[in-house]
Amino acid sequence: MSVSKKSIHGEWSSRFTFILAATGSAVGLGNIWKFPYITGENGGGAFVLVYLLCVLAIGIPIMIAEIMMGRRGRQSPINTMQFLAEEASADKRWHFLGWMGVLAGFLILSYYSVIAGWALSYVLKAFLGSFSGGDSEHIKSLFDQFIASPWQLIFWHTVFMVATMVIVARGVSGGLEKAVRFLMPALFVILLLLVGYAMTTGFYEQGLEFMFDPDFSKIDGDAILTAMGHAFFTLSLGMGAIMVYGSYLPKHVSVAQTALYIAGADTIVALLAGMAIFPIVFANGLEPGSGPGLIFQTLPIAFGNMTAGWLFGVMFFVLLVFAALSSSISLIEPAVAWLVENKDMSRRTASIWSGIVTWLVGVAVAFSFNIWSEITVFDKSVFDLLDYLTANLMLPIGGFCIAVFSGWVMKKEHSQEELELFGLTYDLWHYLVKFIAPAAVFIVFLHVLGVF
Ligand code: PHE
Repeated sequence: MSVSKKSIHGEWSSRFTFILAATGSAVGLGNIWKFPYITGENGGGAFVLVYLLCVLAIGIPIMIAEIMMGRRGRQSPINTMQFLAEEASADKRWHFLGWMGVLAGFLILSYYSVIAGWALSYVLKAFLGSFSGGDSEHIKSLFDQFIASPWQLIFWHTVFMVATMVIVARGVSGGLEKAVRFLMPALFVILLLLVGYAMTTGFYEQGLEFMFDPDFSKIDGDAILTAMGHAFFTLSLGMGAIMVYGSYLPKHVSVAQTALYIAGADTIVALLAGMAIFPIVFANGLEPGSGPGLIFQTLPIAFGNMTAGWLFGVMFFVLLVFAALSSSISLIEPAVAWLVENKDMSRRTASIWSGIVTWLVGVAVAFSFNIWSEITVFDKSVFDLLDYLTANLMLPIGGFCIAVFSGWVMKKEHSQEELELFGLTYDLWHYLVKFIAPAAVFIVFLHVLGVF
């Protein structure tokens, strides 16, 4: 196979479109919904510090590796892994990595879509003025009543899944990148506005202290694993999403620089979300560790108190839904690309089938917040279990394998040719994926298993 082959699925029109799409994949519920609530659950500063270190030392090098491998293979992650293994005369079974990614994508999307459904329903709530007054008791009961209703959750989950499938069916050069071009900056602006509101609560400093003043007595092995898992989750790494996007990337685009932009933008959005939320938490005597409902119990207080808050509320939740959509399409893209390549399906049929499977698992997730909340496996609800399994286990394991493959298995001249990096910069990247990233993941796993 020639190295300069092109993807059958099309190519991004430019480096900029790739940056938009990949940033769209990275920035999503992970930054605005998940980061604040897991930070709250894990005691703040020390957790944030570990997460930032993981982004730097593990996330960025692995992101470079994933984009590079995708662009070299130019197919779905499963077929890309097979091609790269052949090229490196390595064991063909490396393509299992692609399979694990497809499975992780399905599982993540099944709960991702349920939460995105919450955001969708909050668009309507904001529009109807349900937050007015902004009293924290009222906002909390609004949320509690909402998630107690299985049918409401399923309705919004369905709307979100259908939207995802329609966009995926249209292919990589459909309208979404154009939308992302405007929506991402808009999301950024509205987050700044919320941080501005947080400054008026009188608890801004307390919020910042919570986030940035590390107290290591507050974290244990599991918190470290969650922080590391989140670095993978938030950067869309370890399951082939960024790899498949990389496979649509034109030649001669600097992969390393692009990865830095994406990771930078992703991190800033997460930190801003935290800086908007924690002051509101403290100002209203709420619990930082109150779980997955955190943004839905805090930000509406801000909207309920500011002038034209309903309008900003609508805008915020609409933007959040779009951020979620641009991530959800990347969660399912590895599976769809594979079905198109290997099962001779049209994108449309592939999208419909993948959508149906994901939707079904999502129904169980929606029930786990209400009628099935008592059902637990390993002491976790369906939602918690899926989240733990994917973010804390599958993504780090996938990322570990990607680091090992690009650092040990792939020939140096191939990765160098693809990255077009030379001298010290190449050596630094190679050192990170060869030693630091795999060792870090390994050590965290050993620690969680109680080996030391
Ligand atoms: N990065 C996305 C977010 O933060 C979620 C995601 C994970 C997307 C894995 C693709 C792959 O919301």
